[in-house]
Amino acid sequence: MHREDPHRRLAESVGEVLRGAGLRNEECIALLDRLPSKWERFSDVVLLPDSAFRGEWGTYTSEDLWRAVAEALKSERVARLGEISGEMRASSVEMLLGEDDWVVRRESGVDYGYNLTQCMFSAGNVNERRRMGEVVDAGEVVVDLYAGIGYYSLPMLVHSQVGHVHCCEWNPNAVRALESNLEVNGVAGSCTVHFGDNQVTAANLEGVADRVVLGLLPSAEDGYALAMAALRPVGGVLHVHGVAAGRNHAAWAADVTGSLLEMEGKFSIDAAEPLRVKSYAPHWDHVVLDVTVSGG
Ligand SMILES: C[S@@+](CC[C@H](N)C(=O)[O-])C[C@H]1O[C@@H](n2cnc3c(N)ncnc32)[C@H](O)[C@@H]1O
Repeated sequence: MHREDPHRRLAESVGEVLRGAGLRNEECIALLDRLPSKWERFSDVVLLPDSAFRGEWGTYTSEDLWRAVAEALKSERVARLGEISGEMRASSVEMLLGEDDWVVRRESGVDYGYNLTQCMFSAGNVNERRRMGEVVDAGEVVVDLYAGIGYYSLPMLVHSQVGHVHCCEWNPNAVRALESNLEVNGVAGSCTVHFGDNQVTAANLEGVADRVVLGLLPSAEDGYALAMAALRPVGGVLHVHGVAAGRNHAAWAADVTGSLLEMEGKFSIDAAEPLRVKSYAPHWDHVVLDVTVSGG
């Protein structure tokens, strides 16, 4: 077995199972040509792309095959990506090998635990998660309107001297993971979890925040008014996420600042250059805009 090259190990390991199932050599070769070329590995899990082992693999997928995949890719559990869907941004990852879907991703000194088949985790947001651990000033109060399992709040709580973080989240699976992650990372004392629709829960957070995170895609526009109301009267900083045309982030940023300026109240805003977080779809980017709001 080829020590270093996981692709060759995968082809050899899966090839053995196919030959063991009685496939002729040319049939094996035809299938092995369609092995996945990329996957994600973390903890004891290998996460295959949505397209992996579909179609003509249908009749040949078996526990033996998944064990061969796990062995070749040095993992214990095998899962396959699906669509991220609905308002709760639920994941439809399926477990192919292994019952337990609780996973822990350790990233920049933060442990993110969650149920792989219930909550999403976007590896591509790694730099933005790290940045959120660096932007907070000591003693600040932060409101995270779309907290999930703590993607942005945990790095703030673990890596900065933040005063307090208010996390709003309506997906019960994400809230369970968030509460566990706050304990595991030893930061539960500096965070309040507000379970439910932020249109309801954020009403109790008016005028408290120095900073608000609006980490919802493709648009967090429903949270703009909540975010402005959550800021202290002197103002603060908004981190507004969204999806912009790859060639024209500025147009999206102008839309965001335009919508904010239509809000009631005396304030001025100053927006930074939009930051590209990752590709969202062909020709579309996930971007974030830092907006400083100064109260009247
Ligand atoms: C999945 S996260 C976004 C992902 C995050 N930006 C990241 O870096 O991966 C968005 C979260 O907002 C939650 N959410 C969406 N609309 C909401 C609302 N109105 N009230 C509370 N939570 C909401 C979803 O359940 C989801 O967990």
